[in-house]
Amino acid sequence: MQIIACYSNKGGVGKTATAVNLAYAFAASGHRTLLCDLDPQGASGFYFRVKPSKKLTGARFFEDIERFAKAIRGSDYDNLDILPANMNFRDFELFLSQMKNGQSRLKKALKAVKSDYDIILLDCPPNISMLSENVFHAADAVIVPVIPTTLSQRTFRQLLEFFRDSGLPRKRIHAFFSMVQGIKSLHSEMIAEMTDAYPERFAQTKIPFTSEIERMGLARAPVLVTAPGSRAGKAYQALFEEIKERVNG
Ligand SMILES: Nc1ncnc2c1ncn2[C@@H]1O[C@H](COP(=O)(O)OP(=O)(O)OP(=O)(O)O)[C@@H](O)[C@H]1O
Ligand SMILES: [Mg+2]
Repeated sequence: MQIIACYSNKGGVGKTATAVNLAYAFAASGHRTLLCDLDPQGASGFYFRVKPSKKLTGARFFEDIERFAKAIRGSDYDNLDILPANMNFRDFELFLSQMKNGQSRLKKALKAVKSDYDIILLDCPPNISMLSENVFHAADAVIVPVIPTTLSQRTFRQLLEFFRDSGLPRKRIHAFFSMVQGIKSLHSEMIAEMTDAYPERFAQTKIPFTSEIERMGLARAPVLVTAPGSRAGKAYQALFEEIKERVNG
């Protein structure tokens, strides 16, 4: 079983869109997949038409493994289950900060469902917090969408520094360029600069800025379902294949 997190310390960069499409791609290629929506906004559950769970509270998620497993829902797709978010996930921070060894609680909780899944994807909220520390400790790979702008470069650097300061392995980080607009020269310049600075951290696949991805909110399904042959669909498929190889390699 492998744990793959879609994470960025920056908001609105495409974490959820990526988590939803990668989860679908893993499931469609025969991997038993669980998508955990760790963001109380509940966006990835929304895209899969799975209602938030009333049964979970922040504390129980980490403490009561049976309740955690009971909150997992099936989806419309083969091999794909969803752990929907709950507004009580807001309490994670407080709960985790009170725990001894608070940074490894998530890893322990996920062990409970380890034998049921080949892949567990985590859709994370945007910040560096106790929850994200849990994510960094639990995940085999941290997938980071980066919009090619100067501000994103800064936040990406902060993430690398956080990994270094916490003694976490940098090679766990797999970044890719997100919402890329080919016509913007700033985007091309930033892509060249960042690829140069961090050649091993960036995947080759770039996800373009396209209306198909924006329309996911209306369709409430992954682009890989609604428009697999579109530019966005092909890009997500390529990202999936690249990530799979990077994680296994
Ligand atoms: N490549 C893209 N092209 C166009 N729109 C996109 C693209 N990726 C994401 N979006 C849109 O941008 C918005 C933010 O995307 P998304 O929710 O995936 O980001 P996020 O990083 O998960 O945000 P948050 O930090 O709020 O969780 C959504 O409305 C989404 O449809
Ligand atoms: Mg999100």
